[in-house]
Amino acid sequence: MKTTISQVHKHLEEEVTIGAWLANKRSSGKIAFLQLRDGTGFIQGVVVKSDVDEETFNLAKNITQESSLYVSGKIVEDSRSPLGYELQVSSLEVIQQAEDYPITPKEHGTEFLMDHRHLWLRSKKQHAIMKVRNEIIRSTYEFFNTNGYTKIDPPILTGSSAEGSTELFHTKYFEEDAYLSQSGQLYMEAAAMAFGKVFSFGPTFRAEKSKTRRHLIEFWMIEPEMAFMDHEDSLEVQEQYVSHVVQSVLKNCAIELQTLERDVSKLENITAPFPRITYDDAVTLLKEKGFDDIEWGEDFGAPHETAIAESYDKPVFITHYPLDIKAFYMKPDPNNPDVALCADLIAPEGYGEIIGGSERINDLDLMKQRYEEHDLTDDAYKWYLELRQYGTVPHSGFGLGLERTVAWIAGVEHVRETIPFPRLLNRLYP
Ligand code: 4AD
Repeated sequence: MKTTISQVHKHLEEEVTIGAWLANKRSSGKIAFLQLRDGTGFIQGVVVKSDVDEETFNLAKNITQESSLYVSGKIVEDSRSPLGYELQVSSLEVIQQAEDYPITPKEHGTEFLMDHRHLWLRSKKQHAIMKVRNEIIRSTYEFFNTNGYTKIDPPILTGSSAEGSTELFHTKYFEEDAYLSQSGQLYMEAAAMAFGKVFSFGPTFRAEKSKTRRHLIEFWMIEPEMAFMDHEDSLEVQEQYVSHVVQSVLKNCAIELQTLERDVSKLENITAPFPRITYDDAVTLLKEKGFDDIEWGEDFGAPHETAIAESYDKPVFITHYPLDIKAFYMKPDPNNPDVALCADLIAPEGYGEIIGGSERINDLDLMKQRYEEHDLTDDAYKWYLELRQYGTVPHSGFGLGLERTVAWIAGVEHVRETIPFPRLLNRLYP
């Protein structure tokens, strides 16, 4: 009976066949331990010399790392393995004996591993990270689908920018100029006026010259947009959404979190509501913590965010940033027009900002004024202004960066390991 490693629990004490690769191997004169992987998981295959014919034992002893094979044998319980089962091998069929595999169980440098990303993805740790990523995506769809949102796909080739023009990737669109999307937000606002509550999930591109552990050139963003929801409503959606994702990973990726040696006690308490601090209070807090360099009106850098997050054991919203350092579409706070009705959500443990969001300007005259201040007279923005001409309503939205969220939940230091094929400053291959 053919099965996969993820399904072996259904075949206890039964004979099965698994298509697999050899991840690693240990052998003595009498017994060979094969670390097998099949994409769905990892299992140990045990080949005992006295239980199999000579040819099978020799195959097991001589098979090379990453060879592909069909392995047959009986599934038995094994309390020592994270999976809880092992395979007592009775026969082996080699599909291909692999050549010398470049990634050996010894330590390799990061650049070497990044050059071999197409193979590195097979390793146990990378496999676990991608499974956590997949669960975050799955539970994202679950959350928004069960809460009445419609998935809408904004374009990737655009004629205008959402977040400012300095970080745009420029390309030609036949005779016209075009840009790769850095955010689908403006289109999602149009969609919210048609469908009420919408979300998108797609790649975004930023030509940022930043070489930090939090920056990718190509990253994936989840962007919900909600009609008839104000800033406060949006914060509630965000904390419920992030809590749902964290609790789903805890529930469905226990083996992966164990492989990653993630301290799950730091995730178990991630439930709504999340703490909030205003930008003003955050500046005061930073000064108390000895940051003399920060002045009101300046944006926070990674060290500032980390210092603020240290005061909390949950993600924290920093709200009401100065209007001048934020995007043109953010609504000023009616109680203090110098600040915006916006928030960044900062993950705990130093993983930095995972969400940026705001209530949007819905007043036509104020939006026209912003267009003048930001020099957005371009035809490319005409359609966006029209959203305020035909039945404008209060609305809010946000963008969650998938890779930073994976880094935090999986406990991975650098975002380059949280996306299958990272695009970084100076790296376009493989
Ligand atoms: O704060 P940002 O720039 O917000 C927007 O783009 C809004 N238009 C979203 C919206 O309201 N619909 O980016 C949102 C998130 C950040 O919090 C961060 O998690 C992630 O996107 N992000 C990056 N992730 C990896 N590499 C980069 N270079 C990133 N830039 C932003």
